[in-house]
Amino acid sequence: MPRAIISPSVLASDFGQLTAECKRMIKGGAEWLHMDVMDGHFVPNITMGAPILSCVSKGVPGIFMDCHMMVAEPEKWVDDIADAGGSLYCFHLEATSDPLSLIDQIHGRNMKAGVAISPDTPSTAITDDLGEAADMLLVMTVYPGRGGQKFIERCVPKVSELRTRFPDKDIEVDGGVGPKTIGVCADAGSNVIVAGTAIFGASNPEQVISVLKATVNEAQARIARK
Ligand code: DX5
Ligand code: ZN
Repeated sequence: MPRAIISPSVLASDFGQLTAECKRMIKGGAEWLHMDVMDGHFVPNITMGAPILSCVSKGVPGIFMDCHMMVAEPEKWVDDIADAGGSLYCFHLEATSDPLSLIDQIHGRNMKAGVAISPDTPSTAITDDLGEAADMLLVMTVYPGRGGQKFIERCVPKVSELRTRFPDKDIEVDGGVGPKTIGVCADAGSNVIVAGTAIFGASNPEQVISVLKATVNEAQARIARK
């Protein structure tokens, strides 16, 4: 049974205090930290790259950096992110023509490999072979590019479809997820939960993390009983 993993998106944190913000989240119960890397090409915005991730990895020993690569040519950054201490390299399926080779390249650098799909990409674009090769599948519930957007509910059936084909895989949702929208995500079978605004914007982030986690674990137990 896939376990709940909460991955707060540091895009909603105070970048001036990034290592302290990451430590605060881990103390609050987060298993992973979601690092949104944007290159100004695949998406219009620019956020952070390997030099910043490297500082975070040195400043927060043992951190699991869930790197969401919103970049064109994702093949180009595998070595830099691995050298910076990335734990999981999640690329967009829309950005590559050879996802299977890219997964091999990521595994060759001892990182887990994730495959992300944007709202307009069907879940069937993730073939059985590709899904088996990947360690995690990411269903975006907003258009990639910025934090604080509204959750797009029509993306949720893609989670159910993937959960049916890949019962044991880590399936992540990202975008507009929080206590109000976690229910449908958890019921559909996602177990890795990204939340930026909902966690960093809360007066008690620890409590939000615990609600998200409990909702996922209850849904997973229900799914396992079926
Ligand atoms: C959007 C990013 C998300 C975003 C989530 O492009 O991939 O990770 O930061 O932020 P919220 O939870 O605020 O929608
Ligand atoms: Zn993200």
